[in-house]
Amino acid sequence: MLVRVDFNVPLKSGPDGANSVADDTRIVSALPTIEELRSRGARLILVSHLGRPKDGVDPTLSLAPVVKCLRELTGAKVTLAPEVVGERAQEMAQELEDGEILVLENVRFAAGETSNDPAFARELADLADVYVNDAFGAAHRAHASTEGVAHLLPSAAGRLLENEVHTLTGILENPARPLVAVIGGAKVADKIGVIDRFLALADSVMIGGAMCFPFLAAQGHSVGASLCDEEDIEHARQALSRASDTHFPQPGRSRLLVPNDLVIGDRLAADAECRVLDGVEVPQGWMGLDIGPSTAEGYSNEITRAGTVFWNGPMGAFELEPFAAGTRAVAQAVASASGVTVVGGGDSAAALVEFGLQDQVTHLSTGGGATLELVEGKALPGVTALQEKEA
Ligand code: 3PG
Repeated sequence: MLVRVDFNVPLKSGPDGANSVADDTRIVSALPTIEELRSRGARLILVSHLGRPKDGVDPTLSLAPVVKCLRELTGAKVTLAPEVVGERAQEMAQELEDGEILVLENVRFAAGETSNDPAFARELADLADVYVNDAFGAAHRAHASTEGVAHLLPSAAGRLLENEVHTLTGILENPARPLVAVIGGAKVADKIGVIDRFLALADSVMIGGAMCFPFLAAQGHSVGASLCDEEDIEHARQALSRASDTHFPQPGRSRLLVPNDLVIGDRLAADAECRVLDGVEVPQGWMGLDIGPSTAEGYSNEITRAGTVFWNGPMGAFELEPFAAGTRAVAQAVASASGVTVVGGGDSAAALVEFGLQDQVTHLSTGGGATLELVEGKALPGVTALQEKEA
């Protein structure tokens, strides 16, 4: 069985210079599928990308550290093919016994992967009898191993992909109310589609992180030296106008909440001079680096009362302790909320892990871009290819 997984995990370099897996969440998340298939006697050929290699093979992006980690997690015989496709990979696939795992080398070492080359997809398909896609994190990519190959073999969704799609679409289609969305991070442009979707669906949308400054600037406040570009101010202006349009969305209207106080610093550093600003007029020479305590309390109250919470993006520069309080408060509110709580990938997942709260949410998505695109309402090519097979 050819199983596409998303083992695009962060690596760290050890004292001997060798890479190892820094965060195994994505590997652990693929285990239910891997173990279910192994227990039924399948011989697994796992396919994954790691990073974005520029020109073919890049030894620093080898899947060798992932293979070591997978061996420890499964206790199975796990071997690494030194190439993605070709004679050696075929031989190693042929030699597999029931329950054994072969990991192909980083699929992006092959030129045909990102171009979704049909000949490369065929070479992948020829290694196996059946294709399973469990790579939710890569499902927004129309690549050979996520899309092309699904058309060439009997195909199915893995447990992780199935669960991600089910949970994320579930909170959009039939949420327990109130539905609240907490959206943070740096760029409005990256998340304007998600903000718009929630303005149409949610009862309230709360904005935090650096992306609150374009919103505050659009409302006429001074943002000092905070991160804030023109393009984002325009996006924010449009979102504010949609939120105040009584005809949008149908049938109800969602409240768009922006911070009413901030933590500001004279620079982005752990030893920066910092103070709590009562209000949102950032003085010249200062930058906003976290939501303030009153905002954090207000957002936390909304979260606690919610039937469903979707959180994506930190509330401030949480990796620096002086600016971590807003993100910590939101993370704690999400973790203690009694409603359905869904945290979408990337930095907000990292924040939950940092505060030790990752096990206290209903669903921690393994997707970054894939989660945002799904929530935004876009079709994910990896999922569509499987649905077309089903139809
Ligand atoms: C991710 O980390 O979001 C996925 O693995 C997709 O990676 P990509 O953005 O390099 O396609």
